[in-house]
Amino acid sequence: NNILNVLSRKRDKEILSREDIIFFVKSVKEGIVDDSQIAAFLMACFINGLDNEETLHLTQALANSGNVLSWGKAMSVDKHSTGGVGDKTTIALLPVLSAYGFLVPKMAGRRLSYTGGTIEKIELIPGYNTKLSISDFVKQVERIGIGLISQTEEIAPVEGTFYKIRNHTGTVESSQLILSSIASKKLAVGSNFIIFDIKSGSGSLFSSYTASLEFAKNICNVMKKFNKKVSYIVSDMNQPLGKCVGNRLELWEALSFLHTREPYSLDKLIFNIFSNSYKAYFGIAPEKEINKIYNKIFEEGRTVQKAIEWIKNQGGDPKYVENPDYLLNGLNKVEILSSESGYIQGMDVRRIGWIGHYLSDRVDGGIVFNILIGDKVEKGDVLANIYARDINKLENIDLASCIDIKESICKKRELILDSKIL
Ligand code: URA
Repeated sequence: NNILNVLSRKRDKEILSREDIIFFVKSVKEGIVDDSQIAAFLMACFINGLDNEETLHLTQALANSGNVLSWGKAMSVDKHSTGGVGDKTTIALLPVLSAYGFLVPKMAGRRLSYTGGTIEKIELIPGYNTKLSISDFVKQVERIGIGLISQTEEIAPVEGTFYKIRNHTGTVESSQLILSSIASKKLAVGSNFIIFDIKSGSGSLFSSYTASLEFAKNICNVMKKFNKKVSYIVSDMNQPLGKCVGNRLELWEALSFLHTREPYSLDKLIFNIFSNSYKAYFGIAPEKEINKIYNKIFEEGRTVQKAIEWIKNQGGDPKYVENPDYLLNGLNKVEILSSESGYIQGMDVRRIGWIGHYLSDRVDGGIVFNILIGDKVEKGDVLANIYARDINKLENIDLASCIDIKESICKKRELILDSKIL
């Protein structure tokens, strides 16, 4: 077996064996495959596709290219979202799950094109360390039940190499490569229950419901082959999640949620994840019963307490959890007014995502929306507020044109389109 032989066979549409794939990934790990050969491999996979067995073997080989963590019999939970605009779920979710007693070891990513990354958000808490060593991360999670770090070389390192090369060889948008990329990292982080939040709509990787559902089922089936408990959600990404877009505002929204359970959409999503995690470990129970437990966690202030413990343990200043409004100090506000009356028909979520990125980067700010699709607005109503440290630097931002308003009534959108435990 040699590299050239594997490459030529994949080029010629042969199905690679488990040994072929393990050999290739191992060789990348050892540094004996050069970047041009990795690029050729990825392009051949992209063009010719991978069948189910190949995808499974690639997932396993990538997971095994670094440390594979294990949490024994603990009720460990991991959540993965395929990314969207305004998706701050992870930061709000972890303390909720952990407050109930689930173990939540989480490795999160940075920004991918127009979608914001969890790491950029959490790093806005002064002192917070996203770069714990794996051994410190494991110790922390075992001690307090919660930890959030950025991607590290110690977990699925070859996936990291592939990802970098995919990003500049036009080989990101292959559903099998995406699947093996996500699934290998989830396997390596080692939780027993994994929930996939597959976004669907104009602001996501998959624009149609059918494509999102198919991906959700495929990735769950792969994880089940590795004896994981799994569940999926298909959730709407035709408008941002929650009210805020932009790292600082999203962090504010996620931490405020722990006190207020607002906004409604974030609460709905987090309850769904909580409920699926509960059912995965305790069996099917009436939604009403789970809702009681969920309410109690908030009422007793345990979400906030847990978040304080978590942030302190990772070196961050807990005053931002106690009072998230500190995050908004020094920001100025500009109102975005509606120039017409009517109903919100839709939003250009990708452009909103890019504006959020620009505002985060340039003026340390973001957007707070007052409207959702289906809402009625009058001319002159405030559609959204833009926040910035220096409002004089807000050149050429046309947020209003991202919001489509027409006279005809438009239905409100459901957030959760489907959700199942498999
Ligand atoms: N997220 C990942 O982790 N990998 C991909 O390939 C795409 C999205």
